[in-house]
Amino acid sequence: MKLFNPVGLGSTTVSYAGLLEKIEIFRSMLRWAPKLERGDIEKLLNQANTLRDDVMQLSRKERFVEAAELEPHAVSAPELTARMRRQALIDRSFIFEGTFGDNPTLLAALEIAEKAAPTDLPVLIDGESGTGKELMAKVIHANGSRPDKPYISVNCGAIPDNLLESELFGHKKGAFTGASSDRKGKFESAHTGTIFLDEIGELPLSGQVKLLRVLEAHEIQRVGSDETIAVDTRIVAATNRNLRQMSEQGRFREDLFYRLSVIHLTLPSLRERRDEIPLLFSYFGDEAAEVLKRRPVKMTPKLREFLLNYAYPGNIRELRNLIYRISCLAGDVADLHHLPEDIRPREQLALATVSALNRDEDSGEGIQSTSAVPISLSEAKRAASDEAERAFLERGLLETGGTVAELARRCEMNRSHLQMLLKKHGIRSKDFRHQSGTASGKGEGPL
Ligand SMILES: Nc1ncnc2c1ncn2[C@@H]1O[C@H](COP(=O)(O)OP(=O)(O)OP(=O)(O)O)[C@@H](O)[C@H]1O
Ligand SMILES: [Mg+2]
Repeated sequence: MKLFNPVGLGSTTVSYAGLLEKIEIFRSMLRWAPKLERGDIEKLLNQANTLRDDVMQLSRKERFVEAAELEPHAVSAPELTARMRRQALIDRSFIFEGTFGDNPTLLAALEIAEKAAPTDLPVLIDGESGTGKELMAKVIHANGSRPDKPYISVNCGAIPDNLLESELFGHKKGAFTGASSDRKGKFESAHTGTIFLDEIGELPLSGQVKLLRVLEAHEIQRVGSDETIAVDTRIVAATNRNLRQMSEQGRFREDLFYRLSVIHLTLPSLRERRDEIPLLFSYFGDEAAEVLKRRPVKMTPKLREFLLNYAYPGNIRELRNLIYRISCLAGDVADLHHLPEDIRPREQLALATVSALNRDEDSGEGIQSTSAVPISLSEAKRAASDEAERAFLERGLLETGGTVAELARRCEMNRSHLQMLLKKHGIRSKDFRHQSGTASGKGEGPL
């Protein structure tokens, strides 16, 4: 028995609502039809369902075509001014979570995030270190359909290989030495919410296979348990690596890359948005003033000039940290000597080293305390080298969010040697640690 004639469905003169209503009536008639066999009824109902889905799909396609046809008359995105695009997002009640800037690439990323957020599609965010990937993940969570549900952040690069599975999926008591009780993994904790897989490019291949399985089956198994647990988690991943290239080189699974990057956002480096640097000074200057309960710091022309031309390898994070630093250290006006030694212009560094050594001499403490003779070249070199070492370590920890293992990996150093250097300088990695597990991005102080 043929139920419907699909010919004519493509016509736009059909009222979709009317057609759907007819199908619904037809479905309910069938459901209660007294004379048909049960098998027939099911067959017919299935056909009716297929028809309804076809009509729905057609309707969506139709709306899409209409929108595309309208487009040439409307103003296309690049023609809209940045301010209009930002305003449009505000008008649509978009939550920025403190994301600042009108750079076209950034705005495009925010516009994609706006569309992707309410869906459950996986999002992959890439960009250099400090470009706001984690912030963007929070934006997606906040604008999504699960904002009041957990947001769990996992730094895939910071988990030792042997603990990875247990961290992500949990374990059963006795599963391995030290597993003294049952423990939930990050995926279970993020159930109904969002899991942010940071530094996904650092995930070893064995972990990638396991993650792929979760993405496909939406279920996990705790280590040492046969029981499968269903998890409904929205996945947002981030990396500062080129995953496509890594997958071509066989270092990242291609199937996982495609699974994760259904929506792919790339954030601009600060070099690509240099024109916004002055605005970022005021934005973070005000923010730092509020956090530090002081008046916004002013800059000498020299410092301003320097900061406007500086390369910012650590991107917005570095700029933000610099502004917080000078706001903390300076009085009303900040100058070059308030900058960290490793980026301070050379002549300033030399001046500061000599004056520090002189201070030590005056106070009778430090490396010159036992001698009245002027410092030797080798001592000056050693002092400068110590300073550079300390600044290098502090900067590295800032950039890796206080993760010593990650810093060791990045600088290809032995971890215990690195620990020893940190100890030598009295630097505590935990002072540089990210705050995670929260959707709040503002007022946290620099990271
Ligand atoms: N567009 C932006 N507006 C305001 N603040 C920003 C912006 N982008 C980044 N930040 C700030 O810069 C800092 C670093 O951002 P975030 O941690 O999101 O960077 P990231 O890309 O994840 O860095 P990494 O690769 O090193 O982990 C944070 O303090 C964040 O709030
Ligand atoms: Mg990050």
